[in-house]
Amino acid sequence: MKPIELKVNGSTVQCAVEPRTHLADFLRETRMLTGTNLGCEQGVCGACTVMIDGVPQRSCITFAVTCQGAEVRTIEDFDQDPVMAELRAAFTAEHALQCGYCTPGMLATARDIVTRIPDADEARIRHELSGNLCRCTGYVGLVRAIRRVLDARRADREARAAAGAASMDKDGPHAS
Ligand code: FES
Ligand code: FES
Repeated sequence: MKPIELKVNGSTVQCAVEPRTHLADFLRETRMLTGTNLGCEQGVCGACTVMIDGVPQRSCITFAVTCQGAEVRTIEDFDQDPVMAELRAAFTAEHALQCGYCTPGMLATARDIVTRIPDADEARIRHELSGNLCRCTGYVGLVRAIRRVLDARRADREARAAAGAASMDKDGPHAS
């Protein structure tokens, strides 16, 4: 057993793990964070995707010991996250899930797309999503859901920029 210390969903965890223990098993079996699903267990399907230091990673092929000092976030940590709230609503509106098995991993990747690539077009979304497999939806709803969030956020940015410009015009050179 090897001692490790890491942050899981904001809490510091100190424990000992077998060097062969994968992060997914560590999260599911010792932290009871069963929102992280296991599909292929060989790094292909993306069902086990979690955030490690802000980057989506496959927890089924990541050894827990390599997460020494890391900050790990699972789907359970995103209940109050505003981007995830927009994505959940869009997934529902666009029928982006059916059985839901891929959904935690899909949401982790989708959130990464929305926050990292705000101007992603459909081709880029499909490229970024290519590491997450879904057996049910055919991906059309998934891509539409992510586009819906990106479009809404873009419209919001443009509206705020226009409002800022209008306010500058109104206040003119007297603005303090
Ligand atoms: S379970 Fe990890 S990639 Fe499939
Ligand atoms: S919704 Fe069933 S695998 Fe994606």
